[in-house]
Amino acid sequence: MLINTNIRQASTLPGSFYRDKAIFDEVKEKIFAASWLYVADVSVVKNPGDVYPFALLPGVLDEPLVLVRDRDGMLRCLSNVCTHRGKVIVEEASSVGTMLRCGYHGRCFRLDGSFKSMPEFGQSEDFPTAADNLHQVPMREWMGMIFVSLKPAFDFEEAIQPIRERVGFLPTDTLLFEPEGTQDYFVNANWALYCDNFLEGFHIPFVHPALNEALDFKQYDYELFRYCNLQIGIADEGQPHFDLPPGQPDFGKKIYAWYFWLFPNLMLNFYPWGLSLNIIEPLSHERTKVRFRTYRFENQPFNRSENQLEKTELEDEAVVESVQRGIQSRFYQQGRFSPTMEKGVHHFHGLVAEFFG
Ligand code: FES
Ligand SMILES: [Fe+2]
Repeated sequence: MLINTNIRQASTLPGSFYRDKAIFDEVKEKIFAASWLYVADVSVVKNPGDVYPFALLPGVLDEPLVLVRDRDGMLRCLSNVCTHRGKVIVEEASSVGTMLRCGYHGRCFRLDGSFKSMPEFGQSEDFPTAADNLHQVPMREWMGMIFVSLKPAFDFEEAIQPIRERVGFLPTDTLLFEPEGTQDYFVNANWALYCDNFLEGFHIPFVHPALNEALDFKQYDYELFRYCNLQIGIADEGQPHFDLPPGQPDFGKKIYAWYFWLFPNLMLNFYPWGLSLNIIEPLSHERTKVRFRTYRFENQPFNRSENQLEKTELEDEAVVESVQRGIQSRFYQQGRFSPTMEKGVHHFHGLVAEFFG
C-alpha cells in the first residue's frame, strides 16, 4: 500500500482497505496494537488500591489489562492474565489491599505486578523468574485521561505536543465529565471511513446545513503534524467563539472550534464550553462503535440541544454508511484528493501506508 506524498498526484487508499477482512486483521496489529489508545478517565482508579480491569479494544485486540493504583498512589497498567495457567485475575473494578490474588490457585502479585507468592511451589526449581511477574504495559495520563499502547511505535508526548501547544491556555485541568453529552453510536462501516469523513470539512456545506450556518466556511483551515492534525473552524457573525490570549497561535481569529485528530482513532474537539471526545473503535471490518464523551469547563453550562453534536453525528453516520455500501462496488477502485480540502484525509492515508510497511 503506497500513498504518494504529493497530494496533487496521490490517490486514496484502495477500496479493498475498507472491504477486506484479511487487511483488517493486519490493521489490528500493525495500527491498533502499535498506537496509543484511550482507555478511561483517571477517576476510575482514584484511590490507592483501586483496580480497574478492561479488555483493550473489545472483540478486536481483546487484550485483558488492569489499571492498578498502588499504596503510594502510583498508577500502572498491567497484564490481567495470571502467569500460572492464564486465568484473568481481576474480574471487576474494586479496591484491593496490598496485592492481587488469582482466584484459580492462589498466586499473588504485588501491586507493581511482581510475583509475590504461590502455594505448592516449594519444590519447583528455578522459580520464580521474571516470567512470573505480570507484564507492565506502557501507559500515559493526559487531561485526566488514560492512554495505553501494547507495543508503541511512536512517542505519546511527541504525538500530542501540537495539541498541548494550541490549547495550553485553556483550563483543561478543570474539565468535568458531562454524562448529558455522552453516548455510544454504532455505525455500519469500516472505522477508517468514519475517520476519513471526520478529517475533511469539505462535506460540511453539503451534509451539515446547520453547522454550515455557524461556520465561516471560506476560512476553514487545516494544519498537519506528525501523528495528529487540526481543522480550524472559524465562527460566522454572531456565533460563539474562543476568547484568545495574545501569543496564542490563532490570536486575532474567531475560533468556533479546534477539531484535532490523533492517529489512529481519537478526535478531540475543543469548543469554548469544553471538549467533545470521539473514540472510534472498530468492532469488525464493517462495523464501528463511536463513543462520544463530553467534558465541560468548570462554570460552563453544557446544553445538549444547543450544541448540535448529535444532529451532526447522525448526518455523518448516514454518509459514512452510504460510502460503505458504495465501496463494495466492482467499479470503485480508489479516488483522488482535493489538494485544498482533503489534506487531513491524505495525511491519515499516508500514516496508514507507513504503518502497513
Ligand atoms: S491460573 Fe492463576 S493461580 Fe493458577
Ligand atoms: Fe461531518
